[in-house]
Amino acid sequence: MRFPHGSGRRRWRSPLALIIGFAATATVLTGPISSASAPPVYQDSSKPIAARVADLLGRMNTEEKAGQLQQIAVARMQGDCQWSGGELNTECMKEVLADQHAGSVLSGGGMTPAKNTPKEWAKLTNAIQRYAIKNSRLGIPIIYGVDAVHGHNNVLGATMFQQQIGLGATWNPKLVGDVARATQRATAATGTVWNFSPVADIARDHRWGRYYETYSEDPLLAGDLAASTVKGTEDGTSGRQVAATVKHFAGYSQPLNGHDRVPGDMSLRYLQDTILPAYKKAVDAGADTVMVNSGAINGVPAHTSKYLLTDVLRKQWGFDGVVISDWDDVEYLVTKYRAAADYTEAVAKVINAGVDVAMLPPDDREFHPALMSAIKKGLISRKRLNEAAGRVLALKFKLGLFDDPYVDPAKADKIVLGADKKLARKAAAESAVLLRNENNALPLTNSDRKIVVTGPSANNLPNQLGGWSIGWQGVPEGVEVPGTTVAQGLKKNAPAGTKVDYVADPDKAVQQGKGADAVVVVVGEKPGAEGESDAPRPALAADQQKLVQRLKATGTPVIEVVLAGRPLVLGKAADPDALLMGWLPGTEGGHAIADVLFGKVNPSGRLPVSWPKSLGNDPLHYQQLPGPNSGPESSYHVAYPFGAGLSYTTFETGRPKLSDTVVGPKRTLTVTVPVSNTGKRDGVLVVPVYAARPSSDVLFPDKQLVGYTRVALKAGQSKQVEVEVPVSRLAVTSGDITGQGPKKVAPGAYQIVVGEKKADFTVR
Ligand code: NOJ
Repeated sequence: MRFPHGSGRRRWRSPLALIIGFAATATVLTGPISSASAPPVYQDSSKPIAARVADLLGRMNTEEKAGQLQQIAVARMQGDCQWSGGELNTECMKEVLADQHAGSVLSGGGMTPAKNTPKEWAKLTNAIQRYAIKNSRLGIPIIYGVDAVHGHNNVLGATMFQQQIGLGATWNPKLVGDVARATQRATAATGTVWNFSPVADIARDHRWGRYYETYSEDPLLAGDLAASTVKGTEDGTSGRQVAATVKHFAGYSQPLNGHDRVPGDMSLRYLQDTILPAYKKAVDAGADTVMVNSGAINGVPAHTSKYLLTDVLRKQWGFDGVVISDWDDVEYLVTKYRAAADYTEAVAKVINAGVDVAMLPPDDREFHPALMSAIKKGLISRKRLNEAAGRVLALKFKLGLFDDPYVDPAKADKIVLGADKKLARKAAAESAVLLRNENNALPLTNSDRKIVVTGPSANNLPNQLGGWSIGWQGVPEGVEVPGTTVAQGLKKNAPAGTKVDYVADPDKAVQQGKGADAVVVVVGEKPGAEGESDAPRPALAADQQKLVQRLKATGTPVIEVVLAGRPLVLGKAADPDALLMGWLPGTEGGHAIADVLFGKVNPSGRLPVSWPKSLGNDPLHYQQLPGPNSGPESSYHVAYPFGAGLSYTTFETGRPKLSDTVVGPKRTLTVTVPVSNTGKRDGVLVVPVYAARPSSDVLFPDKQLVGYTRVALKAGQSKQVEVEVPVSRLAVTSGDITGQGPKKVAPGAYQIVVGEKKADFTVR
């Protein structure tokens, strides 16, 4: 249901401060709600959110308010109430929902109903909702959160989309928004209306286990796609409001040694100019919630950083939604970071820094009493308690949960099962990046009568889906997920007269490859998530490299398809006849890869990240500058640079023309680029527009992405494309190495760079 007062963001922005001021001093109306004819204001859907929140806060006692500040895993209410899963357990529901007044519940990766179907998900969220409302004195509903990060990926039978990193390769915000809308429909149908997506972290270290959960190494591209995801998640087109979460604020992707959640160090300049912009774009797109980085930056855990959570996010950016911690991060302040002497101090630090909701497994039994004790001791003010609880309640009103708390289980299967397959296939095909195509080995044609398919990921759906797929670490053993592998996709989509043989055994594949017209070898990584997915040596496994090498030695054209969450150093597998990066393409991935290999889709994907040539050079990204003492690998040492990607046709881009040659910092430049399809097939060209500086006080990368577009060109067609570049995108933090100066566009000479061609302009 859409909230009757429009989007709600603006409506509950400024009044919240007033409400909180009021509620902090208001007498608590703890008695039963009058049964007189008019319903209380908070139950009246015709009233503005601000008035409903104020009314409700005024009726709640401290315990109830404290409950809104905690989110508890559903596993605490299932089976043995630890981690067994299973049917809901009423005794534990009482503990969590009635005694602790928990304001929200989550299914972390892999926490499903006893029977994993959309209908059962809807029944589960309804049952929890019903219990919460019935057992709360004031009938307050819960919000149910989930990681639907590539479709509604915990739900068996839901379509799983390409993971974020692959979607980054589309450079297509519209398509990414469509994927988010499809996910909105699926999550809304099951009552899981708080989606912990998108990830707005940027990927610059291939070793990091969550590389694939990001969109790009580039702040502009990552920010645009994260913003599209926020809009697609929250636009209410499913008929029910869903909240997005921008995560993990901020700098989570920068652990010092590439291992997940290891503390990171970065200059204020790097934080402001490179790390923060993607989160800001996503927040500005209207995100309802933000999740905090589990790591520590510059010696301070992000969860205790008032600078990040209050000064930057609230004061500078004006964010008025809910800030949620990541999993168990309050406890970690005591047990891992030693940033608090005890749990009560940890709670106070986190809440006072600006966290509104603590995601609490497995320390939930401690949180409520600790929060109550911190409030009693005056470590957390009542004003802050009201502010945090008020934000959570405002979100619940915005999501329509007070007025329409339940979903219809009878509709869930129909809405979710196998939905949006076409879109998933399109997104996976559009994200495939063709990196090498010697002698036009691709597309496979009718004369390729016999094709051998092999490799460990050729017929392996779990490898194709990656982490966060039914299970946290990927598809659990014994679970059959409906979907199409590459081997199946090639068989189903082969042109008449072409025989596709899947050969699992490497020796037999080499043997049979000898007599084939082409061999497709699908290599890559095993699924994983978070720290378990860290790869200190992010290279293709030696046995897979060897397989490609042996196939190559047969003389048959070898098409190598990589299914992985990051570009892997390919070593001996670096020079097949054709190389296609398919990322983690989802349940329709097999069809999508077949569409590209058979030429039904002309590839248009471009790398949103850099592909390393050898190990040992991480962090690696296209904006890095070599030092004066450059060794052979100390500059940008890549197999394929950021933005690389071929097509089955050829394109030419001409010299960029600028709308102005002298501009002020607040202006927008229009860059016009002549583009032509010089080949024989229709195709889509991604046109990245970069900026460069001949000289600059603060180091400026050789080139920095400032705009881009995608253009469809028929064979032989030419067009002029226009890309808008706000000059503010050139702003950098000024000042000496402390980065104390304001972020501003330095006056002076600049260039716009498209391909090899440049155009000069000056900022006044
Ligand atoms: C931990 C992860 O860091 C975060 O991305 C996720 O949203 C939460 N767990 C909930 O599963």
